[in-house]
Amino acid sequence: MSAAVKQFRARYGVEPTIRIEAPGRVNLIGEHIDYLDGWVMPAAIEPRITLLAAHDPSACGIEVWSAERGGMVHQLSTSEFKVRSNPEEAWLNYLVGVLAVYGDRGIRVPVCRVGIFSTLPSGAGLSSSAALETAMALLVEALIGKQTSARERALLCQKAEHDWVGVPCGIMDQFAVGMGAEDYLLKIDCRDLKVEPTPLPRAVSLVIADSGVKHALGDGEYRKRRDDCEAALAVLEASSFRDVSLELVNQFRSELGDRLFRRVRHVVTEMRRAGDFANALKAGQLDDLGRLMRAGHDSLKNDFEVSCAELDFLVDAGYAFGPDRGQLGSRMTGGGFGGSTVHLVREEVAPAFLKHLKAEYRRAFDVDLNCFVTRAAGAAKCELILSAPSTR
Ligand code: GLA
Repeated sequence: MSAAVKQFRARYGVEPTIRIEAPGRVNLIGEHIDYLDGWVMPAAIEPRITLLAAHDPSACGIEVWSAERGGMVHQLSTSEFKVRSNPEEAWLNYLVGVLAVYGDRGIRVPVCRVGIFSTLPSGAGLSSSAALETAMALLVEALIGKQTSARERALLCQKAEHDWVGVPCGIMDQFAVGMGAEDYLLKIDCRDLKVEPTPLPRAVSLVIADSGVKHALGDGEYRKRRDDCEAALAVLEASSFRDVSLELVNQFRSELGDRLFRRVRHVVTEMRRAGDFANALKAGQLDDLGRLMRAGHDSLKNDFEVSCAELDFLVDAGYAFGPDRGQLGSRMTGGGFGGSTVHLVREEVAPAFLKHLKAEYRRAFDVDLNCFVTRAAGAAKCELILSAPSTR
């Protein structure tokens, strides 16, 4: 029996009957363009949120307990949804939001007890939010015995985040968590929502380094980037960035002004990089990936201004390890303002690469770097836990 099941039983005195696993995600290229009709290339990763639950008529509403979040049992109503404004309970808004969005569709969740366990750091730019939303959505569907498609579920979760958490996120995270495939990156076209799984060669490892600088997309900078891009689109008199060329952006340079010009330059060049990255990967031209990741990082740092000193340091440390020794590419990943970097390295050098990043980070910032290797993982899933047959 797993440690999580033991803890669940000790906390609630009943056996869990449902287990849900929802992975985090890492994005390789196509940053801050999912909400602008761009292409992105994320993968689900091994660290995950595990949710155990039991339908229990004696529960007071939906009882939620997370060992990593203070260990208190919180009670969520099955019919009256309200935003939690206390910062310590803000994480519950992801769950309440999902319940409310299903509620708007006439779905009422039966009372139950829920335990949440996580190996996915929160605020690390690895989509713990989307993992939590998706896990809750799968729980709702398991409890009512009706499944929706992964695509529909992802859109429901995105709506919960927009309306109940106040982050106007794109669709990348919820798609990656809900549709990830083992050893594949997903090329997502965020305009028509088509997903094309693209294999990541087995000889390549994904390394993730969590800078430990907590990012909070709710603090307004993310929204400001979106607003800048909308304003720029109006200046360019275009309806989608997919129709905007770099030549057009250069022509409108003075009308846009310095800040909007740089925002748009990131968007347009990142769209091109995402396409080039996908083609290079398909053609097995691994050496091109590093150049594109470097250019992507520099653009996020200088033009979109969503990086920070720690992320820049980790990216530079990645390239300092050197392509000659098997580092293929490094960049920040996710929304930025802290969070994590992602590195592609040849499988056999991954342990040496981790050691290098850790040593460099300790030397520069005097902290332990949380750095790990992951394979591209499968999608979020739900299973029923069958109780063991009694033995006499
Ligand atoms: C966050 C959002 C995503 C995406 C990234 C940046 O993770 O949730 O939708 O915009 O930032 O690429």
